[in-house]
Amino acid sequence: MSIKQSYKEKRITTEEALSKVETGDHIVTGLAAAEAQSILSELHTIADDVEDVIVSTCLPLSNNEYFTNPEYKDNFRMEAWFYSPGIRKAHKDKLVSFIPNHLHLAGTKRLAHRDVDIFFGTATPVDKHGYLSLSLSATYEKLMVQNADIVILEVNPNLPRTFGDTTVHIDDVDFFVEADYDIPELPIAEPSEKDRIIGKNIAELVEDGSTIQLGIGGIPNAVAAELLDKKDLGIHTEMFTDGMVDLYNAGAVNNKKKTLMPEKMVATFALGSKKLYDFIDDNPAVRIMDGNWVNDPHVIGQNHKMVSINTTLEVDLTGQCASESIGTKQFSGTGGQADTAIGAQNSPEGKSIIALYSTADVRTGEGDERKTISKIVPMLTQGAAVSLSRNDVDYVVTEYGVAELRGTSIRERVERLTNIAHPDFREELKEKAKELMIW
Ligand code: COA
Repeated sequence: MSIKQSYKEKRITTEEALSKVETGDHIVTGLAAAEAQSILSELHTIADDVEDVIVSTCLPLSNNEYFTNPEYKDNFRMEAWFYSPGIRKAHKDKLVSFIPNHLHLAGTKRLAHRDVDIFFGTATPVDKHGYLSLSLSATYEKLMVQNADIVILEVNPNLPRTFGDTTVHIDDVDFFVEADYDIPELPIAEPSEKDRIIGKNIAELVEDGSTIQLGIGGIPNAVAAELLDKKDLGIHTEMFTDGMVDLYNAGAVNNKKKTLMPEKMVATFALGSKKLYDFIDDNPAVRIMDGNWVNDPHVIGQNHKMVSINTTLEVDLTGQCASESIGTKQFSGTGGQADTAIGAQNSPEGKSIIALYSTADVRTGEGDERKTISKIVPMLTQGAAVSLSRNDVDYVVTEYGVAELRGTSIRERVERLTNIAHPDFREELKEKAKELMIW
């Protein structure tokens, strides 16, 4: 059968795609901008026909009815590898639960726990050879194409065609639903003065010829702006970002000194602006590879001078990082924070860096009132998940400087971390450390 004929036979409507869902099914969808938006925005419409459907997802960008409207709580249950703002709200209403994970094992462990009945993904149109691209993410998506009982992909011509583990043949897909929406973009904030100082502090740690990973959040993106004068940088990262496009265009990234996949920028997913999506479109220098491989600390460590740069919500005086929850309140996820930090330490001359503002202005209640707290704390807030062990942090960076923790004792850590805390909190931190007998 010709490719055109095969595509025609597999093409169905959103309604037909939804009719495949049965009571008790486990659905998986793509990560962030690779989420099957048009199908999921209609999922609630089959609520009268199904119950106990589980939807596994990661950093979803749209706030679909099926998980935000409590009316559907007996029909659909979302379980998520990484929280986004919409999920945080739904969590409060008990409509969502978090799946603890290191991102590189998210897909395989989930499959070991629960078979996947349907994968709703996204893809570029099928090419003349019968191939399509999963486009923005191969974090676990390729794995789901290989393992789900039914694979249904939303074909959207606006998606960039990427290379790597995103390539799938039409024969491996059961059905296609045509869609034509704009790809969701991540707003990029202008770096603040604090971001610039942190970026400069980090730039001093990043040697020419390093391969870098930049994590999710405001600071890592701002850091890229301070690396523009570097030479021979390479990219091996979980998330491909706008900052990396700027580094490539400025000539700071050329991937020539990479010891693993030289000449190529390697990522598991991409999320950013249209500029980023245009950059990765049909770009043979970018490889979107399976998260199982990209984020495996053993693989990351094969890059010499690998530098991981991530951020956290709270770090204690011994170096433990609570990067995904505020107390028991789930905020985001571990993602690849530990994967990349451990990977960087496996790397010859590698460095794992955690960057954070020294303080946060946090809400005191439901209103607009805020108070300033130190993000460097004597003890993590009770119930907080330790996303990154203190054993895996080489450097902590704030706008007040750099604390090198590699090889240090707890006493030295208290001293160094206190020195990069906001001056208003330093005395209090030292007093508390004495009380806790750690200094
Ligand atoms: N206590 C209470 N609230 C805090 C806080 C603390 N210690 N630190 C920050 N906050 C609040 C901020 O005030 C802000 O609240 P607001 O939205 O009401 O203003 C909110 O938490 C987010 O803080 P911000 O610093 O803007 O977060 P971010 O968007 O830059 O993301 C992380 C930072 C740590 C949440 C994010 O990087 C993350 O999820 N990391 C874990 C995963 C990871 O690193 N993966 C790496 C590979 S991609």
